[in-house]
Amino acid sequence: MMLRSAQWFSGREELAFQNRAALRAMGLNPDDFVGKPVIGIANSWSDLNNCNANLRDLVEAVKRGVLLEGGLPLEFPTISLGEEFMKPSAMLYRNLMAMDVEETLRANPIDGVVLLCNCDKTTPAQLMAAASADLPAIQLNGGPRSSGQWRGETVGSGTDLWRYSDELRTGKISMSDWRELEASYGCGVGACNTMGTASTMTSLSETLGMMLPGTASIPATDARRMQAATATGRRIVQMVHEDLRPSQILTPFAFDNTIRALLALGGSTNAVVHLIAMAGRRNIPLPLSRFDELSQTTPFLVNLAPSGKHLMDAFHAAGGLPAVLAELRDLLQLDCLTVTGRTLGENIARARSFNKEVIRSREAPLLPGGSLAVLSGNLAPRGALIKASAASPRLMQHRGRAIVFRDYEDMLARVNDPELPVDPQSVLVLQNAGPKGVPGFPEWGMIPVPTKLLQAGITDVVRISDSRMSGTAFGTVVLHVAPEAADGGPLGLVRDGDWIELDVKSRSLQLMVDDAELSRRRAEWKPPVNKHRRGYPRLYIDHVLQADEGCDFDFLRPTSDCELDFVQPIVGRS
Ligand code: FES
Repeated sequence: MMLRSAQWFSGREELAFQNRAALRAMGLNPDDFVGKPVIGIANSWSDLNNCNANLRDLVEAVKRGVLLEGGLPLEFPTISLGEEFMKPSAMLYRNLMAMDVEETLRANPIDGVVLLCNCDKTTPAQLMAAASADLPAIQLNGGPRSSGQWRGETVGSGTDLWRYSDELRTGKISMSDWRELEASYGCGVGACNTMGTASTMTSLSETLGMMLPGTASIPATDARRMQAATATGRRIVQMVHEDLRPSQILTPFAFDNTIRALLALGGSTNAVVHLIAMAGRRNIPLPLSRFDELSQTTPFLVNLAPSGKHLMDAFHAAGGLPAVLAELRDLLQLDCLTVTGRTLGENIARARSFNKEVIRSREAPLLPGGSLAVLSGNLAPRGALIKASAASPRLMQHRGRAIVFRDYEDMLARVNDPELPVDPQSVLVLQNAGPKGVPGFPEWGMIPVPTKLLQAGITDVVRISDSRMSGTAFGTVVLHVAPEAADGGPLGLVRDGDWIELDVKSRSLQLMVDDAELSRRRAEWKPPVNKHRRGYPRLYIDHVLQADEGCDFDFLRPTSDCELDFVQPIVGRS
């Protein structure tokens, strides 16, 4: 098989000379790379991203694997998306990272790529790039961090932060307790140790077939992760020889399997947006209705925070993702090809749950179905999501009057005001917090329960927004309302005191205002002024698609034949 890199190293002699000389300048001999698979290693390590900190060590093991298998590893840095620091949201930059990776692959002599990810958006960004580039690709994550301990209790990333911040506001814990918690909370490198977005996305990458089986949940500091890194490095070289590409792996059936896994995991709502975007790169339609359809028949099995009790270390010990897939076996398309060169069914043939309290059996699920629901109605004509597994059962059918926050600043300024006319029946509405409105589609959807209610013992109310929420968050929170308020969606027409009706069972979200009044409000509506007049945020506002379309850029979606979309560069003089 003719390697792609041969165009750089064995093509027209004066150009090949230049390219070979470039690698010689780094101390390599032509025998080490001419005719051998050149493996790019896209490393999203950064000092600005604590979750990806261990990728600097893992990459050495990946390189070892590539070399042992006869390839040449060439590591390259990419933008890193750290959920903690990036404001307003790492989501603003997911598409930028996807472009960064895709364009690096396009421009360079790379035959196959190892994608090193961990924190939430790094995983889908790399997979979107791999789907478009369609060079042999395999992903490896940094793994979840170990569980923190505070006063005899385990501390779950994100989930316990939200919980204890409510306790701080109501005086149940002091500021000095809070500082002590902060010291115990970080508990080392790696991704959040709950089934938040990071672990959801890496589990889904494994389900799709883009990661070696059983590796997504290996703890960040476990030696087995280094072993997995070496195995990943070896495998990508074999994949180049086999010409095994994402287009053979990322099929409609693989995406269906992945939706099933998301539902069984009780995973992050963010995954819905990312899966739609990833499938979109292969021209695979993934309407929200497909998520709801599969939700009806997929049991919720994994007892992990935020929907359940345990943390990622317990999940891995219980058998990890292969054990979940084994429980779902009869619901899956087992003949989907994976990076192992074998099918999903072959990969999970010997898998089983070793702890039925953590990974439930089909006979004793946490919920028989419906862990995620897709809502629609006149308030969300193109859909909205609710994570039913992390919501309050008493609020699943609810009617209440709206308290409207016109944007995030307004919400922060007023939500804890003792004069806010809120009661336990109120429906909190946050407008202009969607993809274009901010811009960047941040995780502002879990509006804090007003202190006034917390003090009265009310810990959950219905909240609705065009925003997202952290995968580690919980509550009766309706998210991703589409179209968003800033794009003219009806969410922007809601006013204080309007009645809103949520009925999760019938998948309905209704604003109880008649059409004539809504038309009158629409005629008066003006889009919010966005301060961004230039640069990447402006590009984002002008080109981002809505939540139900995955929030990719319109110009990154493929044309009708995506095989022809990744135009190879002309390898000539620079
Ligand atoms: Fe990075 Fe949770 S903040 S994985």
